[in-house]
Amino acid sequence: MSMDLYCVMGNPVEHSRSPWIHARFAELTGQSLHYDKRLIPLDGFATAVSAFVAEGGRGCNITVPFKFEAAALATHTSERAMLALASNVLTFRDGDILADNTDGAGLVNDIQRNAGVDLQGRRVLLIGAGGAAAGVLGPLILAQPAGITVANRTLSKASELVERHAALALLQKTELTAHDLQGLEANFDVLINATASSLSGAEVPVAASTLKPGALAYDMMYGPAAQGFLTWAREHGAVARDGLGMLVEQAAESFLIWRGVLPPSQPVLAELRAILR
Ligand code: ATR
Repeated sequence: MSMDLYCVMGNPVEHSRSPWIHARFAELTGQSLHYDKRLIPLDGFATAVSAFVAEGGRGCNITVPFKFEAAALATHTSERAMLALASNVLTFRDGDILADNTDGAGLVNDIQRNAGVDLQGRRVLLIGAGGAAAGVLGPLILAQPAGITVANRTLSKASELVERHAALALLQKTELTAHDLQGLEANFDVLINATASSLSGAEVPVAASTLKPGALAYDMMYGPAAQGFLTWAREHGAVARDGLGMLVEQAAESFLIWRGVLPPSQPVLAELRAILR
């Protein structure tokens, strides 16, 4: 019997942990599937998706830089993928390509379930307004914080992102504002770094006064790319957390979409942390 086929597509993709995570989910839920990683040429995403579907592929995760193309390629797009203008999970069914985005749910689940910080009524500072920030803003609003400030070096990009989410924020009674990186208010309960600044070796781009004592300071990166931010957060009295849990939780939500079963993510996160230590 041939196994159901899944993969992660990206460029680069060599260091992706997704095949390992999905293999553990499959083991722990007694599901039979094969999940591999595929390096896709930068100009070859649509071709690669067609070839994977022809091979019998059931679904794939999408990582940089194809998340926008993935959303554009779909025949059906979920509301959260539409708000993000990007998709990290495609499902292939009866000739259709269904695009969803589980990055934001992954972040919110990691913050609320794994880190134990309830977002409802809190004040959140989201730094960055690129693809990573766009992928999580909708689900962050759905967690009903009192306010979310989107702060970005280029203010116009933050304003655009806020504008696109304004109706949702109004419905959820979350005060949503755009700001540049200077002159931010102090005392946020939760600060989320969704900028690529750590990758470029730059300093954390906001003042430490934005952190309330004991605040959660979260970097969506993990591994060496997150270290500078985590050190900065700890030095300023915050609880620091990297994005490894978000990675595992977005995978769990993808697995749920494909297999109809939510896998146990916490033990898999603990195992992955032990491996990467
Ligand atoms: P991603 O998909 O990872 O979000 P992106 O769409 O290129 O990548 O967005 C990168 C984000 O990091 C942007 O918010 C960018 O700010 P600008 O919109 O002003 O470009 C932010 N960023 C990158 N390097 C930065 C730095 N050194 N300081 C502050 N912000 C930075």
